[in-house]
Amino acid sequence: MSTAISPTAYNYKVVRQFAIMTVVWGILGMGLGVFIASQLVWPELNFDLPWTTFGRLRPLHTNLVIFAFGGCALFATSYYVVQRTCQTRLISDGLAAFTFWGWQAVIVGAIVTLPMGFTTTKEYAELEWPLAILLAIVWVTYGLVFFGTIVKRKTKHIYVGNWFYGAFIVVTAMLHIVNHASLPVSFFKSYSAYSGATDAMIQWWYGHNAVGFFLTTGFLGMMYYFVPKQAERPIYSYRLSIVHFWALITLYIWAGPHHLHYTALPDWAQSLGMAMSIILLAPSWGGMINGMMTLSGAWHKLRTDPILRFLVVSLAFYGMSTFEGPMMAIKTVNSLSHYTDWTIGHVHAGALGWVAMISIGAIYHMIPKLFGRAQMHSTGLINAHFWLATIGTVLYIASMWVNGITQGLMWRAINDDGTLTYSFVEALQASHPGFIVRALGGAFFASGMLFMAYNVYRTVRASDPAEAEAAAKIAVVGAH
Ligand code: HEM
Ligand code: HEM
Repeated sequence: MSTAISPTAYNYKVVRQFAIMTVVWGILGMGLGVFIASQLVWPELNFDLPWTTFGRLRPLHTNLVIFAFGGCALFATSYYVVQRTCQTRLISDGLAAFTFWGWQAVIVGAIVTLPMGFTTTKEYAELEWPLAILLAIVWVTYGLVFFGTIVKRKTKHIYVGNWFYGAFIVVTAMLHIVNHASLPVSFFKSYSAYSGATDAMIQWWYGHNAVGFFLTTGFLGMMYYFVPKQAERPIYSYRLSIVHFWALITLYIWAGPHHLHYTALPDWAQSLGMAMSIILLAPSWGGMINGMMTLSGAWHKLRTDPILRFLVVSLAFYGMSTFEGPMMAIKTVNSLSHYTDWTIGHVHAGALGWVAMISIGAIYHMIPKLFGRAQMHSTGLINAHFWLATIGTVLYIASMWVNGITQGLMWRAINDDGTLTYSFVEALQASHPGFIVRALGGAFFASGMLFMAYNVYRTVRASDPAEAEAAAKIAVVGAH
C-alpha cells in the first residue's frame, strides 16, 4: 500500500449541500407525514380548504420523503462514494452544481403545484410535464457526472457500491421517461400516452421499479460502502455482492404486476408478477446477509456506536420488508391485504426502517468527514435519535398490521344471507385507535430528525472552512 496526497481535492461542496438538504427535506417530509397521519385521526385538520386536504397533501408527502429526502441522500452519498472509491474528483463542478440546484427546483415546484391540485394522477409520478422534463434533464446530467467520474477513475476496478448506484441511475431514467410519455394540453395538464390496462401496467412497472431501483438498489449502493466503513471490516463476500447485483436487477423488473392483482390485467401477467416477487426474496436476503455478516467479529461495536446501529437495524428492516413483500404478492394474501393499512405498514417498514435509517446512518458517518471534524457534536444525541427512530418505526408498522388485518377481515365478512356484516364506516371506526398509534409513532420518528438537525448544526458550526477544505484534500491510498 503506497500513500500519496492527491493534488486536487474531492468536490465535497456538492456532497455537503445535498447532505444538509437531506436533513431539511427529511424534517419537512416526515413532519408532513405526521400531519396527514393526524388528519386521519382528526379530520378537522383538513381545514375545509382544497390546498390542505389529505388528498392533495398525501402526494406531497410521498414526493418530499422519496424524492427530496431519499433523493438528496442518494445524490450526496453517491457523489461521495464515487469520488472516494474512484480516487478522483467529479468530472465537472458546474454539472454537479446544476444537479443540486435543478433537483431543489423540482422539489420546490412539487411544493407549489401539488397542493394547488396540478397532478398527472399517477402515483409517485404526479408532477406535471414541465417539472417532469426538468427532472429528466437533471437526471441525465446526474448520469453524466456519475459515469464520467467512473470513466476517469484512478483505480482499476469499479467498487460494487458504484454498480448499484449506476443501475439505480440508469433504470430510474428509463422508468421516468417511459412512464411520463404524455400529451400536454395546457401548461399544467397532460394526458398519458397510454390507456386502459396498458396505462396501468406501465404505471406499476414504473411504481414497483421506483421501489426496486430508487428505494432499494440506490440504498444498497449506500449499504455496500457505509456498512463496511463504519464497521471497519471488509464486505463479507465480494462474490456474493456480484451475484446479489445481477440477480436483483434481473428479477425486480418483472414484479410490477403484483400491484394489479384481480384487475383487468391479463391473468398470466398477474401470476408472472407473483412468481417473480417470490423469487425476489432470494437476492434481497442475499444482500441483507452480506451486509449483516460484514459485522462478523465487530458485533461488539454495536454497543458503543449508534451510527453502526442505525445501519444494522436498517438491514434488519430491509430483511423484514423483503420477506413481507413476497408474501403480500401471493394472490390469496393480496386479496386480504390490498387496499388496507397493511400495505401502508409494509411501505413504512421499508421507508422508515430501511430507507430512512440507512440514510440517517450514512449522513452521520459523512458529516464530520465533510466538515473536517473528528466526529459528530454529540454521540448521546445520535443514540437518542436511534431509539426514537426504532420505537417510532415499530409503533407505525405494528399499528398498521393490526388495522390492515382488521379492515381486510371486516370487509370480507358476510352474513348467511350474503349481505355484508360490516359497513365501511364500521371498519373505519375500528381503525381509529391504530391511526392514533401510527401518528404517535410518526411523531417519534420525526422528532428524532430534529435531534439530528441540532447535532448536524452544532457539528457544522464547530468546523472552520479551512479545515473543511483540507478534509477534501484527502490522503489517497494507492492500493485500495
Ligand atoms: C422482495 C421485495 C418486495 C416485494 C416482493 C414487495 C411486494 C409488495 C406488494 C405485493 C405490495 C402490495 C401491492 C398492493 O397490494 O397494492 C407492495 C407495496 C409496496 N411496497 Fe413492497 N415489496 C418489496 C419490498 C419493498 C421495499 C424494500 C419497499 C420500500 C423501501 C417497498 C415499498 C412498497 C411501496 C411504496 C408499496 C405501495 C405501493 C402503492 O400501492 O402505492 N417494498 N410491495
Ligand atoms: C414520520 C414519518 C412518516 C409518517 C408519519 C408518514 C405517514 C404517512 C401517511 C399517514 C400516509 C398515508 C397513508 C394512507 O393513505 O392511509 C403515508 C403514505 C406514504 N408514505 Fe409516509 N410517513 C412517514 C415517513 C415516510 C418516509 C420516510 C417515506 C419514504 C422514504 C414514506 C413513504 C410513503 C409512501 C410511499 C406512501 C404511500 C403508500 C401507498 O400508497 O401505499 N413515508 N405516509
